[in-house]
Amino acid sequence: MSQAPQVANTLPVHLPLHLNGQSPAWQKWRDSRLYQQSQPDPGYYPIEPGNAGLAETDICGLGADLRQKGYALFQIDDRIDQRQSLSGLLAQLGLRANDEGVIRADDGLSLLRDHGHGPRARFVPYSNRLLNWHTDGYYNAADQTLRCFVLHCLQPAASGGELMLLDPELLLIELYREAAESVSLLSHPECICLPANTDQHGHSRPDRYAAVFSAHADGTLAMRYTTRSRNIRFRNRETEQAMQQLRDIIDRCEKWHVKLRLEAGQGILCRNLLHCRSSFTDPPDQPGRQILRGRFTQLPISAMDQP
Ligand SMILES: [Fe+2]
Repeated sequence: MSQAPQVANTLPVHLPLHLNGQSPAWQKWRDSRLYQQSQPDPGYYPIEPGNAGLAETDICGLGADLRQKGYALFQIDDRIDQRQSLSGLLAQLGLRANDEGVIRADDGLSLLRDHGHGPRARFVPYSNRLLNWHTDGYYNAADQTLRCFVLHCLQPAASGGELMLLDPELLLIELYREAAESVSLLSHPECICLPANTDQHGHSRPDRYAAVFSAHADGTLAMRYTTRSRNIRFRNRETEQAMQQLRDIIDRCEKWHVKLRLEAGQGILCRNLLHCRSSFTDPPDQPGRQILRGRFTQLPISAMDQP
């Protein structure tokens, strides 16, 4: 006798039908996402001297990569001013860096490098330490929800500093397969509380209640996540256990991990996927790893024709 398929104890009522793990709309969505995943990985779109940004066809391709795979890659020729060219590309994509919660320059971009023992180094992105799985801005207010970010490499590390990506859509598919009952707990609108915090740079936020899994207004999946559970209060014991289960699945589902090492001139534009960064070492007496980062509450116009 065949075994009955595992079903959730309760449907995740806070997620739309196509993300609920059981409906025909879900099956169609899942099959479509898995088909996209079986397609070739994105390549680098080149930005050449004499061209103001990317060709129109490449802008469309970049939007399609972002929509279908969750990330897109580009490469700026080393004869071009990298920062200016990146700003031009972002303007071409209709993206304006508008995340208020971070240290950034007038053009909206932050320069990530190892600050050694300086005051900024207590923020892991500004150190050479391992940056564990997270989505950006998981503590942001709902109206400041981040949709995508860009990382552009000016200088790679001597060793380490690789990026790893995991698309929450693929993770959700895996979670329904392994622990479907967890999805209801983790999509409750107040399943986690990120306690109030104030830093010396004047950034301040109140207690923030959030769902780990939710949907954006356009119906696409949103995720708020950090591995650092000491920064989180859970709604109840079951939710804490579901989070632990999720943490294990994130580490375990290596088939969906995308590993990237950006070289000088290479950049990634990424939906707000789960990501982590390995620790790194800089060369002695030479410029160390330098990455320009921008974070956006919008998606590029070319990536927006989602369900
Ligand atoms: Fe990040």
